[in-house]
Amino acid sequence: MGNGTKKVLILGSTGSIGENTLDIIRQFPERFKVTGLVAGKNSEKLKKQMEKFNPEAVALFEGELETPVGVDFYSGEEGIKSLIQDIDFDIVVAAISGASGIIPTFESAKKAERVALANKESLVCAGKFIKAVAKELVPVDSEHSAIFQALLSGKKEEIKEIILTASGGPFRGKKLEELKDVKPEDALSHPNWDMGNKVTIDSATLMNKGLEVIEAVWLFDVPVEKIKVVVHPQSIVHSMVRFCDNSFIAQMGKPDMRIPIAYALSYPERLPLPDNLGMEFYEMSLTFEKPDLKTFKCLRLAFEALDRGYPYPIILNAADEVAVNSFLKGKIPFTAIPEVIEKTMDILNLSSPETIEEVVSIDKLARETAEKVVQSFLA
Ligand SMILES: NC(=O)c1ccc[n+]([C@@H]2O[C@H](COP(=O)([O-])OP(=O)(O)OC[C@H]3O[C@@H](n4cnc5c(N)ncnc54)[C@H](OP(=O)(O)O)[C@@H]3O)[C@@H](O)[C@H]2O)c1
Repeated sequence: MGNGTKKVLILGSTGSIGENTLDIIRQFPERFKVTGLVAGKNSEKLKKQMEKFNPEAVALFEGELETPVGVDFYSGEEGIKSLIQDIDFDIVVAAISGASGIIPTFESAKKAERVALANKESLVCAGKFIKAVAKELVPVDSEHSAIFQALLSGKKEEIKEIILTASGGPFRGKKLEELKDVKPEDALSHPNWDMGNKVTIDSATLMNKGLEVIEAVWLFDVPVEKIKVVVHPQSIVHSMVRFCDNSFIAQMGKPDMRIPIAYALSYPERLPLPDNLGMEFYEMSLTFEKPDLKTFKCLRLAFEALDRGYPYPIILNAADEVAVNSFLKGKIPFTAIPEVIEKTMDILNLSSPETIEEVVSIDKLARETAEKVVQSFLA
């Protein structure tokens, strides 16, 4: 991308990534201008963002919002597509949560010079289609941002391993029997990161790491055999690459999403971020452990979905969304989340999608199947 002020569309502006993105843009008004904001149903927050950033247009998936003259309002799934068609933008920050982000990410990727990608589900479910239309994909996920940066110091054929770090979440070190009575509020208290509910529960089950493994396969075009996961409770080393000479190149820093978000917006340059987003090297204590795939079965299931082949990652992701929702509503215990996913994967035997619309149909079918599996747990 060339220089000058970049026009930015934010999908999921009212979420954790969306708000952090706006915080970066607020600090660099000469570099970025918000032209579009898209949210789910939080009209109050969207209104405040609209007043502060004065975009060309805003959209809600559900609900209404009165906008001043000069700011267009769109609503619903089709409305979001129309906003993407109608407004001008150079960068899209794709930060809707879950599979709802697939189509908006795909549609905006067709137009944007750069996709700053947070919505990992887009790549997990539709990596083939999104990569085919995107001019440039720069990851926002801290792990993938770290790998993206580490890869700048070697050639693709020199990669020995890509190592994703995982904090281990709030239940690191626990055994399966100890997790039976976990309540949503226990699972929602992540030790290092402040994130949306879905990704926080996924961090507690390690499904988040599983989805990130699949995301990494698509982003970096490496075989899954080269991708490893290591637990690093402090979340300071954000991930690393081991090259063929056995050198590890890692990216480190305070666990704050504004750092990878800023990089995704400004790459190949770096933005001068304030000192409170930094830390001293002597403050870092770094430890690493092997992940426990017996207790955290979701991570194993993600590797299994890759092994079974496309479209199993779509089924894995859809079943996970249903299972996490059911857990948050108190319908199933925490330990049933991987059971729902595994059963759904066992029931469905589907062929690979040929279009993005088929991805959406498979996602829908997998959700319906997972709902039935949840019902069988209640019976
Ligand atoms: N948070 C992190 O630190 C982090 C780190 C790495 C990757 N990610 C990834 O980034 C994505 C967003 O995560 P998050 O933590 O920011 O989630 P979040 O806080 O739950 O925010 C989700 C955003 O998506 C919007 N949204 C939900 N459904 C929508 C729909 N159907 N149409 C349009 N907008 C919709 C929400 O709007 P409302 O507010 O109106 O509901 C909100 O703006 C996820 O894919 C996550 O895995 C997050």
